[in-house]
Amino acid sequence: MTIIVTGGAGFIGSNFVRYMLKKYPLYRIVCIDKLTYAGNLSTLSDCLGSENFRFCKTDICDRAEIFSVFEEEKPDIVVNFAAESHVDRSIEDPEVFLTTNILGTQVLMDASREYGVKRYHQVSTDEVYGDLPLDRPDLFFTESTPIHTSSPYSASKASADLLVLAYHRTFGLPVTISRCSNNYGPYHFPEKLIPLMIANALSDKPLPVYGEGLNVRDWLYVEDHCKAIDLILHGGTVGEVYNIGGHNEMKNIDIVRLICKELGKPESLITYVTDRKGHDMRYAIDPAKISAELGWQPETMFADGIKLTIRWYLDNKDWWQDIISGEYRNYYDKMYKNR
Ligand code: NAD
Ligand code: TYD
Repeated sequence: MTIIVTGGAGFIGSNFVRYMLKKYPLYRIVCIDKLTYAGNLSTLSDCLGSENFRFCKTDICDRAEIFSVFEEEKPDIVVNFAAESHVDRSIEDPEVFLTTNILGTQVLMDASREYGVKRYHQVSTDEVYGDLPLDRPDLFFTESTPIHTSSPYSASKASADLLVLAYHRTFGLPVTISRCSNNYGPYHFPEKLIPLMIANALSDKPLPVYGEGLNVRDWLYVEDHCKAIDLILHGGTVGEVYNIGGHNEMKNIDIVRLICKELGKPESLITYVTDRKGHDMRYAIDPAKISAELGWQPETMFADGIKLTIRWYLDNKDWWQDIISGEYRNYYDKMYKNR
């Protein structure tokens, strides 16, 4: 069994590569990643020596290169994590989101058709459903909730999802799609809420909370997401969409307060800054389908997962300090300096 994992040098992709190498020592895992600002080979350092692992520094939009990797590897399964993933960056500069997230998906599916891939899995997001109001806690995203996007990021992911379903209907490509809620855990790039707050708090820097901090996200420990994708690859029904989420809704401000508490830092570090444009209020997944069909349940509760995550950032300072000392500084100044 050969699995191509795109975006495997990023946050969730690298956790997935590690999970699969450990669980299936007889599978061959081929990681394709362009190594954008969000991808780091150091993230995969413990995998690079494995005999059944190969890394290819390749852009998923590069048709010739992608076809040549497929020609060499003849993959059974493709799992596409590769994407531009940060909403704030998509507001600053949407174009690369459309290129990678939509056209890159097309290239991967064309190669999957050409080489008779048995399963093409698209890693999507709950953000394709838009947001829910704060005063309707009874509402959740199901797989039949209409697509209703807010940001260039979510619009690009939704476009890709539509294309994936079209390739299934038109060409019979054996696809599945998963739409997961916000992940957290090791190797999360420090531009995102949880690692940004941990890194800033550890340096006694201001903790920039957008708006009033009342927006709600449904947090899932990254390994639980990896387990869900594994179940979909091995038991999911072709042509289907699966929502993944652990019923763990938290307000941003409560997360930031919790991080302060865990690190013994004062809440006076919290600084309210100008809100994100088009900021989604609440995400909340109904995971009933994947639970009933595939027996998936989240295994790491938030109270434990956040402790594990903070411990990981304390134990792996080299990994993230290296990242925030480079180009990231310019990004940070641009996004936060006069906010
Ligand atoms: P990430 O930004 O940490 O990693 C993305 C990876 O993709 C990086 O390694 C990057 O180098 C690579 N990449 C980007 N453009 C590429 C290109 N053109 N060709 C090849 N590689 C390229 O993202 P993440 O948080 O790990 O998210 C992975 C996937 O999961 C994305 O598709 C995202 O939409 C989806 N998702 C993320 C979350 C979340 O909470 N982070 C939740 C649901 C779904
Ligand atoms: P983020 O981690 O960017 O994920 P997403 O936008 O995909 O949900 O942001 C999570 C929430 O945290 C979101 O409501 C925006 C908010 N946020 C802040 O308040 N401050 C920050 O510096 C960042 C990066 C995010």
